Amino acid sequence: MTFNLKKDMLLGVASSATQIEGGELGHSWNDWYHSGRIRDGSNPARANDHYNRWKEDADLMADMGIKIYRMGVEWARLCPTENKVDQAAIERYREELSYLRGKGISVLLTIHHFTNPIWFEKKGGFTRPENIKYFLDFVSLVTRSFGDLVSRFITINEPNVYATQSYYFGLWPPGEKSFTKAVKVMSVMAACHIMAYEMIHKIRREMGYRDTMVSFAHHMRVFNPLDPKNPKHRLNTKLMKYYFQEALIHAMYFGNFKWPLKRVMPTEPGEYCDFIGLNYYTRTTVSKFEDGTRKDALKNDLGWEIYPKGIVKCANKLYSLIKRPIYITENGTCDNNDSFRCRYIYDHLKALCESGLPIERYYHWCFCDNFEWLEGERARFGLVYVDYDSQERTLKKSARFYSDIIRSRAVTQEMYDKYVKEQEYHK
Ligand code: BGC
Repeated sequence: MTFNLKKDMLLGVASSATQIEGGELGHSWNDWYHSGRIRDGSNPARANDHYNRWKEDADLMADMGIKIYRMGVEWARLCPTENKVDQAAIERYREELSYLRGKGISVLLTIHHFTNPIWFEKKGGFTRPENIKYFLDFVSLVTRSFGDLVSRFITINEPNVYATQSYYFGLWPPGEKSFTKAVKVMSVMAACHIMAYEMIHKIRREMGYRDTMVSFAHHMRVFNPLDPKNPKHRLNTKLMKYYFQEALIHAMYFGNFKWPLKRVMPTEPGEYCDFIGLNYYTRTTVSKFEDGTRKDALKNDLGWEIYPKGIVKCANKLYSLIKRPIYITENGTCDNNDSFRCRYIYDHLKALCESGLPIERYYHWCFCDNFEWLEGERARFGLVYVDYDSQERTLKKSARFYSDIIRSRAVTQEMYDKYVKEQEYHK
């Protein structure tokens, strides 16, 4: 029942700019809301009002004993139009980053997390290699503006999820349904990552720093055929796994563009990864070429299978390809009543800590309940409960558990009995 954290392993929390900040900005998700596309009708302009309440959130984190935090910056806020940089927004982020530092919290900064400024979207976003320069200008701005306060960067969050949701299923902005475009977006994003990787290192070197760490956050899941004896299920499993996660790893880590991806810029083969960034949530059971879940599986409140072993399988896969320290850049679950989150944390952390893998960091997704993209406010993933009307934050039981693990660097029998023992997953 009990386990210790790995030596030197740190536990923290993750968030993204659009999901917490709030504000009516000219970006793709504000726009998606205005097109009536958010399932529960909630508006990302509200979110957690973190743009104004950042100090309160930082204090809460520090009170929980958190020492590492993954956060993002909003492109449309820093660059509201193609040729404008908002200096006040730079100052505001600098204030937050300095404050976090003062509290002993080290930041892992995400540069792109699903959201584009409208001006970039209008130019065709990541479907066009000609647009890579706009992204790189943004990378340069972020590195120069915050590079003295942050040494660890994620260039792009989950390019596979972004490309698939936005260009294949058409569920996210800009709502297109084209396999060819989805693949093109992955190729362009891989080029963006490689060029950003080199750029961040170069700029920080020029600033006099030698401790830069850059990677991307890869969304991985386990894919299993529904009926292992059915050749169609097996084939679709192979195709989905390859298309959704494997081709992209080779492009992003090594600059090795394999079919169906294409090298769209003159990038060189190399190693573009200083740590392995893994976002893990679930397993997909495949019959058709789409996401599926076994009927008898244990599930979270969005119907995603809970499969703790998968986190080690996915981390293993990445580590077999490149030997770098492993950061779990996201792991968490939608549990609206906080009735099984402690067990979820326990099961996933235990699997990681009992593995032989060099897991250095684990960022729980997420800190406060936040704007969950298409689901809006109705899907709660947070350790901290948010009353969206009053914006009051309240620690959930899972937050107290997480904080206890950070302080004891272990789950003791007493903690197991107090937080986990009575919790069960549902089907
Ligand atoms: C994304 C987060 C999202 C989470 C839960 C990840 O794919 O990076 O932004 O909130 O999953 O759906």
